Amino acid sequence: MKSISEHILSWYHTHKRDLPWRYTKNPYLIWLSEIILQQTKVSQGTPYFIQFSTKYPSIYDLAFSSEDDVMKTWQGLGYYSRARNLHKTAKIITEQYSGHFPDSYKELLKLPGIGEYTAAAISSIAFDQSIPVLDGNIYRVISRLFGVTLEIGTTSVKKYFIGHAANLLGDLPPGDFNQAMMEFGALQCTPKNPSCDICPVKNKCSAFANDNVHLLPVTKKRNPLKDRYFTYYVFHDATHTIVHRRANDDIWGGLYEFPKKEHSKLLNYNNLKHGDDEMEVVDLRHILTHQRLFIRFIIIRQQILQKLEGSQQLIQLKKFDTLAIPKPIVLLSQKSLIWKSLIS
Ligand code: ADE
Repeated sequence: MKSISEHILSWYHTHKRDLPWRYTKNPYLIWLSEIILQQTKVSQGTPYFIQFSTKYPSIYDLAFSSEDDVMKTWQGLGYYSRARNLHKTAKIITEQYSGHFPDSYKELLKLPGIGEYTAAAISSIAFDQSIPVLDGNIYRVISRLFGVTLEIGTTSVKKYFIGHAANLLGDLPPGDFNQAMMEFGALQCTPKNPSCDICPVKNKCSAFANDNVHLLPVTKKRNPLKDRYFTYYVFHDATHTIVHRRANDDIWGGLYEFPKKEHSKLLNYNNLKHGDDEMEVVDLRHILTHQRLFIRFIIIRQQILQKLEGSQQLIQLKKFDTLAIPKPIVLLSQKSLIWKSLIS
């Protein structure tokens, strides 16, 4: 009789998606795919994987590019610390490891941006080491299969789940089995409306037997979204505008933006004057995982651009599109014809 794990592995061989990183065991490409896929759906991450692996075919290409260039390639994917750490780790591996990824889980964990999940994924997929992985999909599969009602979020509960994952892995091929569990969670044992009627392990599934599939896994309630209010001042003359690079301690770290003020509440239209300069106002809302942003752009044409402050710099309008910028600033060119014509 087939075990649960053997059923899931057979299911994987039949149903797995045809994904570009599944044609390689090159640790550089496996690492790249795993960093891109953190907190990102496969459908969103795949085009980025193709772009990165084409633009930077080896770790040297990545390490010797500029951080701005890496950020630009990452633009739109979110969680920008992943891109900064990607570049840092590429530099460390070329400088300290002669361009070769370490093959040990412990050594991998020392690298920026590589946590337990990523170290387990790389060592199992690229180096065939028998180390179980645990991602959001796998938490769900395990909690349903074994009827685990513990709330996810603490180290001890994580250990408990890792124990189950290790038992399931046993001595099966680790790279395939770990990916089989992820894929099974992504396609079959989905958060909402899982396809239990065609599930190969429904007869061994605790949640299916107890009719509580929809109640598992047990997760913490999300905090409500935090509202933030930004005003961007898009100062420009005929040829240039003013930008600065965001610090790394907030959203969009390492991306460029216009001079900005943050307020504690929504501003109304009163008192919007900037001398005799021509201006246009564009408002938009942008939702991130934990924040809801209310953004006002004030596009201000000046005869002579005002003095730069702090880390501000001038950028040619025609080169604006080469900067890595947050999505709302990308959207500005759809909202303002004036801005669009200035930068194109
Ligand atoms: N999500 C994270 N890693 C993945 C992988 N290797 N295949 C599919 N989805 C994933």
